[in-house]
Amino acid sequence: MKVLSLILIATITIANPVYAANQTREQKLGKLLFQDINLSFNRNQSCMSCHALDSIDVPVAQHHTDDDSSVTMALKPITPGFVDAANVLDGTSVSNGSLVRKFGSLNAPSVGYAAFSPVFFRDSEEELFFGGQFWNGRAADLVEQAKAPLLNPVEMAMPNEWSVIERLKENRKYRKLFKQRYNIDLAGLNEDSPGVANAYQAMAEAIAAFERSREFNRFDSKFDFEAAGITSYNDSEQRGADLFDGRALCGLCHTTEGIEGDGTPALLTDFSYDNLGVPANPQIPGNPDADPGLRANPNLEAARGEPSPLSETEGRQKVMSLRNIALTAPYMHNGVFKTLEEVVHFYNTRDVLDRCIDPADATHPGFGVTCWPEGEFHATRNITELGNLGLSPEDEADIVAYLKTFTDNYPRWGNSSGLRDRNVSKKAKSPFADFPVPVHSIGNQAPSRLGQ
Ligand code: HEC
Ligand code: HEC
Repeated sequence: MKVLSLILIATITIANPVYAANQTREQKLGKLLFQDINLSFNRNQSCMSCHALDSIDVPVAQHHTDDDSSVTMALKPITPGFVDAANVLDGTSVSNGSLVRKFGSLNAPSVGYAAFSPVFFRDSEEELFFGGQFWNGRAADLVEQAKAPLLNPVEMAMPNEWSVIERLKENRKYRKLFKQRYNIDLAGLNEDSPGVANAYQAMAEAIAAFERSREFNRFDSKFDFEAAGITSYNDSEQRGADLFDGRALCGLCHTTEGIEGDGTPALLTDFSYDNLGVPANPQIPGNPDADPGLRANPNLEAARGEPSPLSETEGRQKVMSLRNIALTAPYMHNGVFKTLEEVVHFYNTRDVLDRCIDPADATHPGFGVTCWPEGEFHATRNITELGNLGLSPEDEADIVAYLKTFTDNYPRWGNSSGLRDRNVSKKAKSPFADFPVPVHSIGNQAPSRLGQ
């Protein structure tokens, strides 16, 4: 897709000077690490390659007059979605690794608001697992998560922790900042130093601190300004909001209320896990086996105290936050759905349309129109909360309009796209700007706490 890759090149970096200026020294170090391609085997990939910090151009309606007939579409840089821009722009589902022809088998989720996911646990009253990082929650917190991609052979592909520390040692800034912040002498480390693990931990902590900065947790979508009573939805968005928490049942998992009434703005997830019966995506390179989700999380038994039945784990993926969802196509753990319209139609009609047969997968020409393929883990799919919602085409469109209000940086794009929201000035601050980003951490080996 040539046109689309041109857009990728033309992508404009809209750094957020305000957010950047407010970052602590540790967060600034984390940002350098997050953007550093030298931390990958071929010095060609950073965290940012799959979790972009830049805005990408998306089509936005331009209302030239109040008369709807004069609406045209224009490409506008809106705000970062913290996903792999290549996936968004050309519809591919998974990311290239540092090594040639190495691909992951899962769609890169947004790092936006990931900081709010609690440490992985099981609630015995609700009989559900919650929290953690990754689609299956296998990393307890952001620090544990950040240690993984560098050593993942289909991602940054470094052979071991020491090889990463060697790359850190090359950089004068890192040498200085590790000394200042963690009292770690990078230059003095060698392959056998006991300090290697400690330095690796410190690096992950700095990255996690950056992921907790406002840059990833802005809370300035139209959804937030509406929740704070500053602006209101248009008719379609309002109908979508009512359906979302009503007949469409979305709010059962994508919670629109803050946590436990403590004033947290809604995160549009309850951080639980579910098997929606999502069909396989045959377009993933190498056609890997279906990802079993929670079933492959190595910490299930520790969290529960006993083995779990398959019905509670198989094919269950983490309920992702829907914040910035309009910017993070394609959708679901395997990226099988290309648009929000398709996602909503799936929830509405999974059990209504015929089964796709011959081919019995997403390459069927009737995919999503006349049929849906059987889900990857059909036997354990959720059959009570989706599949036959009885929504009309207009209802579906209203829900999509509502989903688009979850896009951050509304003061800017809400006005510049011609919507002219008079209630929210271009310089308006997030109504939740003072809400602290929590530190959800297992924190058992933090170097700062070890005093080294
Ligand atoms: C090659 C692409 C790629 C690179 C590079 C990459 N990621 Fe990811 N990231 C992914 C994919 C794919 C997943 C989902 C994998 C899974 O669930 O098993 C993911 C998941 C995550 C998550 C979990 C989000 C959530 O809500 O569960 C976080 C946080 C994250 N990455 C941060 C990072 C950081 C920090 C780096 C750099 C150290 C990084 N990623 C490098 C592709 C990438
Ligand atoms: C029973 C819980 C549940 C309900 C109800 C639910 N969702 Fe989800 N949602 C999930 C889970 C779990 C995922 C991830 C599933 C996967 O990847 O296999 C998800 C993923 C999504 C995604 C894609 C997220 C991404 O990052 O790719 C969108 C969009 C979405 N849901 C919208 C909705 C809408 C709209 C509704 C109502 C029509 C709804 N959901 C109802 C649990 C739910």
